[in-house]
Amino acid sequence: MSKDEVKILAIETSCDETAAAVVVDGYKVRSNVISSQIALHTVYGGVVPEIASRKHIEKVNQVIEQALAEAEVTLDEIDAIGVTYGPGLVGALLVGVAEAKAISYAKNIPLVGVHHIEGHICANYIENPELKPPFLCLVVSGGHTHLVRVEAYGRYEILGRTRDDAAGEAFDKVARAIGLGYPGGPKIEAAAREGNPHAVEFPRAKIEGEPYDFSFSGLKSAVLNYLNMSKMKGMDVVQADIAASFQKAVTDVLIGNSIRAMEAFGSKRFAIAGGVASNGALREGIREACEQRGIAFYHPSPVFCTDNAAMIGVAAYYAYRNGERAGLDLNAVPNLRLGER
Ligand code: KG4
Ligand code: ZN
Repeated sequence: MSKDEVKILAIETSCDETAAAVVVDGYKVRSNVISSQIALHTVYGGVVPEIASRKHIEKVNQVIEQALAEAEVTLDEIDAIGVTYGPGLVGALLVGVAEAKAISYAKNIPLVGVHHIEGHICANYIENPELKPPFLCLVVSGGHTHLVRVEAYGRYEILGRTRDDAAGEAFDKVARAIGLGYPGGPKIEAAAREGNPHAVEFPRAKIEGEPYDFSFSGLKSAVLNYLNMSKMKGMDVVQADIAASFQKAVTDVLIGNSIRAMEAFGSKRFAIAGGVASNGALREGIREACEQRGIAFYHPSPVFCTDNAAMIGVAAYYAYRNGERAGLDLNAVPNLRLGER
């Protein structure tokens, strides 16, 4: 690696993945190590925060060592450490933040705090180095559903957000209700392939006067009501049909609001990000909407959609280049808002 390159070691522990990566010049991913805790949480039907924190502590050193080894670099060659400091589970975030601060202090390496959702958005730069702000981005994860205008690196205008459940959360809750288990998104997507998306017409919520806001709690309740009603009437429930009809309702709303934003802002570029952005039905719907309007469509590969540290390394690179540095008083901020520092 040349001396002029900017090498970032990134650490991500905001939820149930312990992850570390080495990213060069803001898009070259030299390593991307993810230790998933999904199997541990599956027995409980969702993420148990205390278990997540403990597992991060067990894994974080090993994951970082592996990321450095795979990238064939030592800490002496690292220009900055980027770490997710919010939003997320406080105990989980603290593990990454404490680790990053310890390395920064011991090796005298600059520290950069990264917003998790900013990381998700920046995942788009990895495989599309030609993508530059301004652009519109639909961020859909387990904790967030935002329509964002990326004005510049590190500058975001939130056009709309969910009023209640995040899209991923709705996938997870409905999957649990229909007996598919955790994590719900991929399981619903697989089940939906065998089902009829028009079997049940679930509601598509619109929010009066707020064209870019979302609401998924009514949809979730509608699925639960449908299940209860079917049980009371002794009707058979076809799991694949419910999965397909639910997925269609969620993606219709996500795509509908995205189209409104595309048309209102006349943007030439549209990106999607976050765990739910790996959903094929959502991706194809947005692709089609973009194609019809001559808009370039960007999306990360699935491994960069769900939680990973490479995306944190990309976001840290732009913050580092912008002169942003965190002190050793950096703390975990579980409800950190996008655009806040
Ligand atoms: O971005 P992410 O890994 O973590 C958060 O920051 O929340 O997103 C996880 C969420 C989960 O709710 C999961 O069910 C959802 O993303 N997800 C999907 C798919 N893969 C993951 N949702 C729909 N379809 C998928 N293929
Ligand atoms: Zn995430």
